[in-house]
Amino acid sequence: MDELVRLCKARGFVYPSAEVYGGFRSTYDYGPLGVLMARNVKEAWWRSMVQLRREVVGLDAAILSSPKIWEASGHLANFTDPLVDCRSCKQRWRADHLEAGEDGRPICPNCGAHDFTDARPFNLMFKTFVGPVEDESAVAYLRPETAQGHFVNFANVLQTEHLRPPFGIAQMGKSFRNEITPGNFVFRTREFEQMEMEYFVPPDDAARWHEYWLKERFDWYVCLGIPSDMLRLRHHTPEELSHYSAATADVEFLFPWGWGELEGIANRTDYDLKAHAKASGQTLEYFDATTGERYVPYVIEPAAGVARTMMAFMIAGYHTDEVGGEARTVLRLHPRIAPYQVAVLPLSKKDTLVPLSAQVYEMMAAVAMCDYDETRSIGRRYRRQDEIGTPLCVTIDFASLEDKAVTVRDRDTTVQERVPIDRLVETVTARLAW
Ligand code: GAP
Repeated sequence: MDELVRLCKARGFVYPSAEVYGGFRSTYDYGPLGVLMARNVKEAWWRSMVQLRREVVGLDAAILSSPKIWEASGHLANFTDPLVDCRSCKQRWRADHLEAGEDGRPICPNCGAHDFTDARPFNLMFKTFVGPVEDESAVAYLRPETAQGHFVNFANVLQTEHLRPPFGIAQMGKSFRNEITPGNFVFRTREFEQMEMEYFVPPDDAARWHEYWLKERFDWYVCLGIPSDMLRLRHHTPEELSHYSAATADVEFLFPWGWGELEGIANRTDYDLKAHAKASGQTLEYFDATTGERYVPYVIEPAAGVARTMMAFMIAGYHTDEVGGEARTVLRLHPRIAPYQVAVLPLSKKDTLVPLSAQVYEMMAAVAMCDYDETRSIGRRYRRQDEIGTPLCVTIDFASLEDKAVTVRDRDTTVQERVPIDRLVETVTARLAW
């Protein structure tokens, strides 16, 4: 894990936020490679959840939201974690995250004491004020989940899209939770991105669709390169279930510190639509004009986190091996996920190579995200591209001026192949197997 955190900082994936001021409370900034990779994670999710499905549409709802939404959804009353204070060092902890000592009593991770206050519910929502007056009528909340946007727009979407259950509304974006104990790098932060889909189904079919989405979502991680023995599905116990859920299972990943949640897949029943219908006085149900049937759909919700998914791909892809007697670090990322798909590497900075190298870069940049690097030795440039997960390197050398061909090097095998420039786009796109 330390090695990964080092790589993230050194190569520009993730920086501690406000580092020039000593950092800021478990917040992180995504650097040049981090934004590329996060975009790819979201794009891969969007592709599988929206682009390839006729019955799923997108949404981008507001982050600043009315307290009425959170009152109706139950988050104001129930979205809490149990908070305890250590009586010895005065630090605050999430009671359900404390490890037990030999005698079974929880231990303070800071000072080792066993003496805590009684647990009290701590609401995780960030509260703020909209407009210049900071009174109760101006209170708003930063959304703690992207969901709710889906439910309060249910009737709008139905009106514009003529959908029939089963259908889904998908959304990606920032959510905010005032976590008591953020940690494990970007695993638990107070500001994070979610990818959530609410799938509206006839109530009698909910259990079947829940099973369907458990499999679909598990397979998505495997298809993008996570070995299935580093993943598991874990069903929540009744005590663990969120206030809205009839059944939830998590896709968990084997992080260096143990199993941790990547995604929760919940059967939210008709809880949210009914709650908003009651609070708003609006009708939030589906009317089937052909059968005359009217009902409130149940909702199956696959809800994933961008940062955790990114981390899982990096941890699963992180390998060290030896090439030509030299140790190398290689990030074996799926081409769809890797920050760059191609690196264009002129063998030399000499003027004679510049026009052809620029031409190759332009050609490749039109079809893939490309890095262009003409500094240092070619061996060191290959090492850098291996470390950041670039699947293919295209090298332009002096012979390229004569034979109008370039060398394509594979990250995983390090095998090099000479390819005519006029067949480069075709060869590379086939090799990346989009
Ligand atoms: N709408 C349901 C929902 O929000 P959740 O299990 O609380 O469910 C879904 O969150 C996903 O969002 C989690 O599986 C995780 O990947 C991500 N997530 C939740 N809290 C997070 C946090 N504090 N930091 C980073 N990611 C988080």
